[in-house]
Amino acid sequence: MTSFEMPRRPRRLRANGHIRDLVRETHLRRDDLIMPVFISHGTNIHREIPSMPGIFQHSLDTLDRELDAICQAGLSRVILFGIPQAKDAVGSDAFDDQGGIIQRAVRHIKTHYPQLYVITDVCFCEYTDHGHCGVLSEEGRLLNDPTLANLQRQTLSHARAGADMLAPSGMIDGMIGAMRQALDAGGHHDLPLMSYAVKYASAFYGPFRDAVDSAPQSGDRRAYQMDPANAREALIEAALDVEEGADILMVKPALAYLDIVASIRANFDLPVAAYNVSGEYSMVKAAAARGWVDERALATEKLLSMKRAGADIIITYFARDLAGELP
Ligand code: PBG
Repeated sequence: MTSFEMPRRPRRLRANGHIRDLVRETHLRRDDLIMPVFISHGTNIHREIPSMPGIFQHSLDTLDRELDAICQAGLSRVILFGIPQAKDAVGSDAFDDQGGIIQRAVRHIKTHYPQLYVITDVCFCEYTDHGHCGVLSEEGRLLNDPTLANLQRQTLSHARAGADMLAPSGMIDGMIGAMRQALDAGGHHDLPLMSYAVKYASAFYGPFRDAVDSAPQSGDRRAYQMDPANAREALIEAALDVEEGADILMVKPALAYLDIVASIRANFDLPVAAYNVSGEYSMVKAAAARGWVDERALATEKLLSMKRAGADIIITYFARDLAGELP
C-alpha cells in the first residue's frame, strides 16, 4: 500500500463514534431550547397552522394538550404568542389585565403548570387591526414614543399576570429602557428582559404572520425592523439595549444571520439567543414532506449551527419534537 509521510492526519479524530464524541466542540441540549406556543381566543380550538405543520393554535381549554406534550418532551420553557378576540387601532387586548389573551394564558399556565417558565412576546402587531407593531400616525407611520407608553402598559400587565420573562420584539427605539423603568417603578426588579435586539425585516416570518393573522394591512415593517444588508448596525442596536438594561440579546432570524449571531457573541458578554423563525421551520417541513431531506437530521444540524455560531439559547418550533432525543 502506498503511504505518504504526513504527521498531521485530522481523520484520526474522526475514526469512530468514541473519538468523535470525545472531541465534539458543540452540544445541543434540551436546556438550550424554548418552545413557542400560540394561544387563541375562543373555545375548543386545536387548529394546525397550514404553513407550519405540527404547530397548532390552541384555545385556553385545549392548551393543556400542548403543554403536556411539551413537559413530556422534557422541556420547561415556553414563549407565548396571542391571538385576541378583537383587534383595534392601538391593540388594547395587549394591556387588558382581565380579558387579555396572554394575561389569561399566563395565569392558567402558572396555576396548572408551575414547573414551566413562561416568557411572553411583547409587541402589538398581533393586537392591532392594521397589523403594525404600535401606534400609527394618520399617514400610517409607526409613532415611536406613543408606542413606548403603550409598551409600558403591556409590560406591567404581563408582569402582573405572572410572566417569568418578557421578550419585546417590536424594534421600537428605547423599548428596553422604557420597559425596565416601568418594571422597576412597579417593583418588578427581578423580571428579566430578553430583547429582540437585532431583528431584521425578513421574509422568513411569512408563516408566523399567517399563524397570528398579523400581516400589515398596508406597507411593511422596514421603517422599524432592520435592513438584511446591515451588519454593523446590529452592534449599535445591541449596545443600546445593553445600556438600557437588557438581560439577554436575541438575533432574529437565525439561519441566514449566523454571521450576526457570531458577531454579537464576540462583542458582548450577555447571553445570546437566536430565533429559528417560522419560515426556517416551514422550509424544512416542506422539503421533508416531499422526501427531499431527512427532517430530524436537518433540523438538528441547523440548531447545532446556531450553537456553534455562539447562541446560548434557541427559540425553535422544533423544540417539542426534538427535545426527547437530546441530553
Ligand atoms: C412580532 C413577532 C414576529 C415574530 C415573533 N414576534 C413577527 C414579525 O415581526 O413580523 C416572528 C416569529 C417567526 O417568524 O417565527 N410580535
